[in-house]
Amino acid sequence: MTGALALPACGANEDSGSGDDKSKVEVFSWWTGPGEADGLAAMQADFQKRNPGTKFVNAAIAGGSGTQAKAVLASRLQNRKPPDSFQGHAGAELLDYIKAGQIEPLDDFYQRNNLKSVYPQQLLDQITYKGHLYSVPVNIHRSNVLWYNPGILKEAGVSGAPKSVAEFVTALKAVKDRTKKVPLSLGAQWTADHLLENVLLGDLGTDAYNALWKPGADWGAPAVTKALGDFAEIMKYTTLEAASTDWQGAAKAVVDGKAAFNIMGDWAYGYFTGSAPNGLGKKLDTDFKYAPAPGTDGTYLWLSDSFTLPKGAPHKAGAEAWLKEVSSKEGQDLFNPKKGSIPARKDADKSLYTGYLQYAFEQWNNPATKLAGSFWHGVNANNKWHTDIDTAVGLFLQDKDAGKLQQGLVSAAKNSGL
Ligand code: GAL
Repeated sequence: MTGALALPACGANEDSGSGDDKSKVEVFSWWTGPGEADGLAAMQADFQKRNPGTKFVNAAIAGGSGTQAKAVLASRLQNRKPPDSFQGHAGAELLDYIKAGQIEPLDDFYQRNNLKSVYPQQLLDQITYKGHLYSVPVNIHRSNVLWYNPGILKEAGVSGAPKSVAEFVTALKAVKDRTKKVPLSLGAQWTADHLLENVLLGDLGTDAYNALWKPGADWGAPAVTKALGDFAEIMKYTTLEAASTDWQGAAKAVVDGKAAFNIMGDWAYGYFTGSAPNGLGKKLDTDFKYAPAPGTDGTYLWLSDSFTLPKGAPHKAGAEAWLKEVSSKEGQDLFNPKKGSIPARKDADKSLYTGYLQYAFEQWNNPATKLAGSFWHGVNANNKWHTDIDTAVGLFLQDKDAGKLQQGLVSAAKNSGL
């Protein structure tokens, strides 16, 4: 890995913030929507109870998977107007901020709060650069979940969740031919990127998928051509009006009985089962069911939301109080059942994770489960690569040309610096 980008030397406390200012904390994320905001609100309430003198400013910017928030964040960081803490995915995405010198190492914070032993080592590895720890993970999300409407599958004569990509295509066709329902709901463009990582994993298998993100990866390989052909085929069963809604609209179509399938991360579970006014109050097994995304059983396509301490945070002590909340067992156990994720800590209260989350908890903690990193949600691809893939997918949505998509992905990998 190359060294840090040079930043102009920072003069006398110019943007180092006042280290002991705990009067306020501005927390930046993209959790404004139904499902996501509830988890944040639960942790905020606990934070407020423990830190009554600190004003919590929720600086969340709407847009699933941070599509708008990341652009705003980039310009704030560039202009040296950082929030006190921002959400960043563990892995390659975090590395971008580290290399640009935009976030502080948190080794002392980990030491003071005895945190090293509470997180799994493979997660610590994803937030460590040159021996220093850089963020505080709050959860583990699973990207590879197939949500489906059991009633529509029955109507279509599909006996259960498809287990491979080929079976998935057959099931989508059955829904199209035999019902008036949407076979596969999709939302804004990023949800097609999310679908893409799932089809790549499902078709290539875990090892070949993971190899795509390593130096020398062959994005031009016939196996990738095959997977992209399947992706193009699957996309034929999605809705045209998709782009006008974010992930919530697409996921909701399944529990509302309008669409048979949706592939989305497990934040959808928080939205489905959460209570009104934000949550949909739906019942697992009656209103919807889940399965591993086709062809991905036994693999956790994972990602982790973590919080950072930006360089020059105006209220450093407030930020550290927030990071303490984020790292705490109590905070994580309040946040995750609502967010639809499982705790990043190893010592969480297992009994709180029921229904789908019990499955997620067991899969994550099962030594036989294989791990694959979500590229869309920051684990494998840095921000530039991520953007270049999104551009290639955007072109594909226009021209539907899987060959060109592959060329675009080959160039994106080449330009990623791998
Ligand atoms: C992911 C994020 C999740 C969830 C999702 C949809 O990138 O890690 O916490 O917010 O986007 O917005």
